Amino acid sequence: MLSVTQLEKRIIWISLAFVAVLLGLSVLAINLFHVGLPTCLTDIKPFQKGELITHSPTHYELHYVARMWKFEPEDVTVPAGSTVDIYLSAADVTHGLILLGTNLNLMAVPGVVNYARVKFDKPRVYQLLCHEFCGIGHDRMAAELHVVDMETFAARPSPPPADQPTHPAHKVLDDNLCLACHSIDGQPGIGPTLKGIYGQTQKLRDGSSATINDAFIREKILNPNAKILAGKFEQEMPKTDLTPEEIEEIIEYIQTLK
Ligand code: CUA
Repeated sequence: MLSVTQLEKRIIWISLAFVAVLLGLSVLAINLFHVGLPTCLTDIKPFQKGELITHSPTHYELHYVARMWKFEPEDVTVPAGSTVDIYLSAADVTHGLILLGTNLNLMAVPGVVNYARVKFDKPRVYQLLCHEFCGIGHDRMAAELHVVDMETFAARPSPPPADQPTHPAHKVLDDNLCLACHSIDGQPGIGPTLKGIYGQTQKLRDGSSATINDAFIREKILNPNAKILAGKFEQEMPKTDLTPEEIEEIIEYIQTLK
């Protein structure tokens, strides 16, 4: 019969052996399968701009910003064989990022940067999805990451320079998350696109109709749910905190979106 101390010693040794095996497997996974451990970085300031930074032809740094309800940048291309350091932050609420087909799974938390490294060996299109419920547009929050072979990558045309609208109201709309629901280029969204909306006559939920003019837009911003459009966009709009000057700027800007 074993004395209790001997039994305890055995249990301790068995536990230590388990820990050693687990550590060994982790080291193996990291080196053999390039499994990146997600890390919360505390020494990096959260960023507001998504971008792909090239360190070398096979080493990239990818800054993703998750916001209602998209990832920025939405469309990224890197060559096969490259190592990508992925940094993730959130601009508004907590989101998640899962890269289907890899083991990348990070939380996007406002004020925090999370990090993981992924190595992409073969050409393939990867889907990025948000896996944390983040509001009405959560199920549409997706993006793509394209891994192409080196020749295709080298031969691809450089993207046209993004011409950001310069109207001051554009920044107001962006800062107040209006653009999360309303596009300015006719793209479908959660709310109606602002392109061409000025001057239109729209049916309202109460059966009446209204012309989208200065007075309508002003009232819609100040009292979002007094008049609700009928049909597809029959849902409430959140109230924003805009100054009268900002509202007038927005009205003027919407008129220019033809
Ligand atoms: Cu972002 Cu769900």
